[in-house]
Amino acid sequence: MMIDGDLRLVEWNARFPEFTGVPEQLLRIGLPIEDILYSQACAGEFGEVDVDTEVARRLALLRAGASSGTIERKRPNGRILELRRNPLAGGGFVTLYTDITARRQAEDQLRQAQKMEALGHLTGGVAHDFNNLLMIILGNLDVAERSLKNLELDRASQGLERSRSGARRAAALTQRLLTFSRQQPRDPQPIDPNVLIGQLSDLIHQSASTKAKVEFALAEQPWMVLADPNQLEIAVLNLVINARDAMPKGGVLVIETAKVCRGGRSASTSLPVLGDEFVQIIVKDSGMGMSREVAARASEPFFTTKEAGKGTGLGLYQVFGFAAQAGGRVTIDSQPNVGTAVVIHLPRFVGNKAMQAPD
Ligand SMILES: Nc1ncnc2c1ncn2[C@@H]1O[C@H](COP(=O)(O)OP(=O)(O)OP(=O)(O)O)[C@@H](O)[C@H]1O
Ligand SMILES: [Mg+2]
Repeated sequence: MMIDGDLRLVEWNARFPEFTGVPEQLLRIGLPIEDILYSQACAGEFGEVDVDTEVARRLALLRAGASSGTIERKRPNGRILELRRNPLAGGGFVTLYTDITARRQAEDQLRQAQKMEALGHLTGGVAHDFNNLLMIILGNLDVAERSLKNLELDRASQGLERSRSGARRAAALTQRLLTFSRQQPRDPQPIDPNVLIGQLSDLIHQSASTKAKVEFALAEQPWMVLADPNQLEIAVLNLVINARDAMPKGGVLVIETAKVCRGGRSASTSLPVLGDEFVQIIVKDSGMGMSREVAARASEPFFTTKEAGKGTGLGLYQVFGFAAQAGGRVTIDSQPNVGTAVVIHLPRFVGNKAMQAPD
């Protein structure tokens, strides 16, 4: 469709009526675009709108000067159109209508197929992991039972402790799945990250390999953050487990907290800037590190370089998702053969306890 500077129809092709719902009898050179808009609005092409208001609105926009651009529109008959508008040098514009229904359907099918593939990875990997953990739990319960019968109490309690740790890991696994399916309830609360890490230190020691040296470098007089404590715990443990896996021969694992002030203020007012003060929670290892390619993809769901049954590829996905929910972000600093530092940045929380985190 070509429209001149006076907003009148200059040219159209044979399929114009079919694509726009404007009856062929109406079309003539010099037809005001107002009539086209009116006929379209009456035919429901613009959705359920007040015809006069809608036509007036569109006309005002066109009079103000047609800009170039591409939009998509769903027609009353269900077809999806792509409209590309190009302004002409001397005023007026050309609009190209393309029926993209088939393309959209193909894309939807592809997305569905990808979803199914991801689900396959998920169920395969998780079932495997879960089975392994159940074997650990059952095996150690057997050990405990036999040891009790023989009155070997130390061995019995060791068996119980090992089955408990297996059960904890199984619980962490289901937590991650819940996060993934977004069923995880969120309950943001003011948290002192140092306290949370302190409460977690047993579990951190247990999760890190015995070959690794665990160090804590916690900021003095820490700032509060507003986050779901369960999610934050899982995020820290996910990072600790990644660090352990990256240091099969042992190394140094550092859990650090820091208070950071951002240099400049964000210029954008559309972003909900909660403050220029951030808390960093850093998990650092001296392990194998990541190549640039791996680091770039590490936060994708199901991305893992670990062998089947060892990793589901949901750890960092959870960490990134958690940080985003809490209004923060995550950065990865990694160098092959040197080590990795993953930093969770969370906005400092000041204010009353009743305040809710932004969604
Ligand atoms: N500290 C690290 N050092 C080196 N590589 C890492 C580190 N953390 C993550 N990676 C890389 O990023 C990938 C994705 O990590 P992520 O935690 O998301 O999944 P995973 O550890 O493979 O599996 P899962 O955490 O679900 O058991 C890992 O497979 C690994 O290649
Ligand atoms: Mg992991």
